[in-house]
Amino acid sequence: MIKKLSPYLKKYRIFAIGAPVAVTIEVILEILIPYLMSKIIDIGIYNKDMNFVLKMGGLMLVMALFSLICGAVAGRFAAVAGMGFAKEVRQALFNKVQEFSSTNVDKFSTASLVTRLTTDITNTQNVLMMMLRMLVRAPVMLICATSIAIYINARLSLIFFTVIPFMAIALYIIMTRAFPKFQQMLKKYDALNSRVQENLIAIRVVKAYVREGYENQKFREAANQLRLTQKSAEKVVVTTMPLMQFAMYGCMIAISWFGGNMIIGGSMLTGEFMSFISYVTQILTSLMMVGMIYVNIVISKASVSRIIEVLEEEIDIKDNDKGLTELKDASVVFDNVSFSYAKDKDNLTLKDINLRIEPGETVGIIGGTGSGKTTLVQLITRLYDVLSGRVLVGGKDVRDYSLKALRDSVSVVLQNNVLFSGTIKENLKWGNQDATDEEIIEACKAAQAHDFIMSFPDGYDTYLGQGGVNLSGGQKQRLCIARALLKNPKIIILDDSTSAVDTATDSKIREAFAKKLKDTTTIIIAQRIASVRDADKIVVMNEGKIDAIGTHEELLRTNRIYREVYESQQQGVA
Ligand SMILES: Nc1ncnc2c1ncn2[C@@H]1O[C@H](COP(=O)(O)OP(=O)(O)OP(=O)(O)O)[C@@H](O)[C@H]1O
Ligand SMILES: [Mg+2]
Repeated sequence: MIKKLSPYLKKYRIFAIGAPVAVTIEVILEILIPYLMSKIIDIGIYNKDMNFVLKMGGLMLVMALFSLICGAVAGRFAAVAGMGFAKEVRQALFNKVQEFSSTNVDKFSTASLVTRLTTDITNTQNVLMMMLRMLVRAPVMLICATSIAIYINARLSLIFFTVIPFMAIALYIIMTRAFPKFQQMLKKYDALNSRVQENLIAIRVVKAYVREGYENQKFREAANQLRLTQKSAEKVVVTTMPLMQFAMYGCMIAISWFGGNMIIGGSMLTGEFMSFISYVTQILTSLMMVGMIYVNIVISKASVSRIIEVLEEEIDIKDNDKGLTELKDASVVFDNVSFSYAKDKDNLTLKDINLRIEPGETVGIIGGTGSGKTTLVQLITRLYDVLSGRVLVGGKDVRDYSLKALRDSVSVVLQNNVLFSGTIKENLKWGNQDATDEEIIEACKAAQAHDFIMSFPDGYDTYLGQGGVNLSGGQKQRLCIARALLKNPKIIILDDSTSAVDTATDSKIREAFAKKLKDTTTIIIAQRIASVRDADKIVVMNEGKIDAIGTHEELLRTNRIYREVYESQQQGVA
């Protein structure tokens, strides 16, 4: 698992290697210090040799200072490597998510992707920083201190050798129990993020329905769930600390007892005993450190696996790199198309769709909510791929085109289109980076957006907040239409794009379209019959199927659904 993430550390490998090296020096110095102390006591003080004491004391001071510097350097290197690593992984993850198809995103959920990009990476970064320092420190200390302790007094060393296996087994048992709980905890994080995200996106709706109390309640539940799982995971982990300390102090007592007797019996010197105690402390703290690292690795394992899951996710809709780059004409054909969001042929959202749209035609699509209109047009630009059948654009299967060519030629104004923070002009240029001011104004005039844009003090340089919050619904829709027009597409699809625009403006937009986009194939999804009645043909959708195709007059005569919709809307007018 670590191997899969190691490429992201490559750029910072000097720091990643430097940190353990500095730590090693630090540890070796730390280990030598008690040894010098035992010499001071057993030789210097015993012989009352002040010169020796001063010399050794000075040496100890220098070593301590040097060890301190090494420790600081190690900490700094580990931090640089850890943060650099986190940045690289985050970037890779973000890039990967950009490649995701809608199906991929649906699978993970946006909230979970956010947790993975933030919390999970931070967890991993923290553990990496810790590992770079501790993973070397603990074993080096353990080995060196143990060797010296055995060298000083082998018999006394037996005490901690009996304790170590007992501690290792206990640790192992605790951790295997903790791991699933940490995995659960991260799932709860997802749930919490999803609550926050949903609430913030819809904060206006929440306020309009005075649902703050209810939302607070739901958030409290999610936060509490997180607290409970976190508590149960930590509960398992915290038992390690007292266990370790129990073992440590038990060892100390035993050593003091046996060591004391040895001194009285004359088989051990006081200085030796004192340094022995220091070494035992070092050994046991490094064991504790190993335990801590183990705990953190276990916690981060859940995070790491969640990161790798995203990095290794098979992209559902693959770009056809060597695909066609040019559309022969602007025709669109649905050939026996069936589609299911769940990829399940018993749960179809679209069934047996057959539809032929000639180049330059204007086609209206009408149908109840949930009848599959949006789903249908999403197949044209491959936001999703068909389950069976084919969608042809310009006589060729959409899967034969490169995604860029396809999406550059087919402009979609999505039902829930969004603008981004930035000026109006910047937003419009998403359609075409090289658009001149004249082109931008022309597109905005066609979309009936020019006048309201000019009514703003800053005109085209007006700054839009996140998602275009400072615009009305109808203004947003018109900007989105203008943005789509700027692409100079061969095919343009408007999915309910004028629903928030008044009927007079709506009809002006259609007029402009008829004039400006004579050769452009236009597909208009609408709720209002008025928006589609002049179309060359109108498709009536019902429960994922095409109910009828015809002109306004034909459908009025022959199609019950169409007639009913028309009559209900006429009543409104009358
Ligand atoms: N991302 C999705 N995952 C799963 N099911 C979906 C998804 N999007 C839509 N559906 C389902 O597919 C069906 C068709 O939805 P679609 O959005 O195509 O309807 P629509 O005709 O555009 O409706 P409306 O007029 O309300 O926009 C609905 O039953 C809906 O619940
Ligand atoms: Mg829709």
